[in-house]
Amino acid sequence: MHKNPISGFSRLSKIRKMQWVVENFFKDPDLVMNELISYWHPGLQSILDGFIENSIGNFPIPLGVAPNFKINGKVYAIPMAIEESSVIAAASSGAKYWFDRGGYKAEVIDSKKVGQVHFKWKGDKKLLFDSFSDIEKHLRSETKDITATMEKRGGGIHSIKLIDFTDKIEDLYQIKAEFYTCDSMGANFINTILEQFAKTLKDYAISSDNFKNGDKDIQIVMSILSNYTPESIVHAEVSCHVEELENGKTIKNGKLFAEKFNTAIEIAKQDPYRATTHNKGIFNGIDSVIIASGNDFRAVEACGHTYAARDGQYRSLSNCEINKGIFRFWLDMPMAIGTVGGLTKTHPMARRSLEMMGNPDAHELMKIVASVGLAQNFSAVKSLVTTGIQKGHMKLHLTNIMTQLEATAKEKLKIIEYFKDKTVSYSGVKTVLEKIRR
Ligand code: MEV
Repeated sequence: MHKNPISGFSRLSKIRKMQWVVENFFKDPDLVMNELISYWHPGLQSILDGFIENSIGNFPIPLGVAPNFKINGKVYAIPMAIEESSVIAAASSGAKYWFDRGGYKAEVIDSKKVGQVHFKWKGDKKLLFDSFSDIEKHLRSETKDITATMEKRGGGIHSIKLIDFTDKIEDLYQIKAEFYTCDSMGANFINTILEQFAKTLKDYAISSDNFKNGDKDIQIVMSILSNYTPESIVHAEVSCHVEELENGKTIKNGKLFAEKFNTAIEIAKQDPYRATTHNKGIFNGIDSVIIASGNDFRAVEACGHTYAARDGQYRSLSNCEINKGIFRFWLDMPMAIGTVGGLTKTHPMARRSLEMMGNPDAHELMKIVASVGLAQNFSAVKSLVTTGIQKGHMKLHLTNIMTQLEATAKEKLKIIEYFKDKTVSYSGVKTVLEKIRR
């Protein structure tokens, strides 16, 4: 542990940073130094280091693939970067299950992004609102250079509104702007425009004849995009007759299964404890594809959770209905993601992931991501209302346990055979391995 703050750390060379870390925090600095270096990528390390400050190495997470995803009639193999053992198995099973039952249908409802300039105005409220159409003209004209390229691609500023927030915070107003950012997530584009909006607004308040004390009355608080994009939203769904749900194994009676499944969704609609776990399952799938494609999973998570609580209570993001014998299961998921910009092209594996999915545009990627989230959720709830999840989960976990216990290939085969019809536990595997070794 180090007691005093270190200054100038970011200016140290990478090796010096590593030395400082290993010498201060590890019992065997040389061993840890070699271990950290062993995770460096021989060809790409300088690219990876360039993504962040103070990089000392890599933290590997496996990249897996979930095949057989039929989405709007097109079949995809989906790259997923995830460390949790059963996620890809569940996604694949959700994909395969619906493959012969019509597949996933997905549609982008809209892809409007949002940004805000928060400011305080101590002057006359009416004057501010009356002047706003003139202010808007200035906001648009003074960002023309920034928006020109995006406009050529079909995007740009969609709307600019003045919002009165003074009932919640004294003197507080917002410029709320909506944007279309084509195939990019748009964070840099939006933030650059917002910062220019803030400058333009301040200049207007200071120099306009309308505002006598503009320079004193206005205070810009901050300018930033909102990660809540309820109007950048994608719908994904699956449906079939309840009898078609039967699979001869875990689902013998389709009607009964559909009803139980529907009840599970109702529970997640009403109970935030269950809703949180339920939505976590959806994000198991969504985050994995978002990470693999070089997008920002924190933004997508934050947006999804806010949307899940949009009526004041945190609820399930997925929905279910049984109507005239038809089982329908769907997800409306807001997200702001891209297939150009950010890491999508600079991270070599993100580039490959996008290639694996046929180089989708942002809308197609939204449809893929939502379908994976729905598949993940379907498989989880299907297991929960039939076999329970521990059996499948622990089977996959078995591999991790055997690796931890340093079982040999021969021992692994014997252990797998032993646990074929038994529930896996760490202590159980340990005991069997000890017996084999004796
Ligand atoms: C585990 O990562 C995810 C689940 O708990 C999701 C759920 O309960 O719906 C299986």
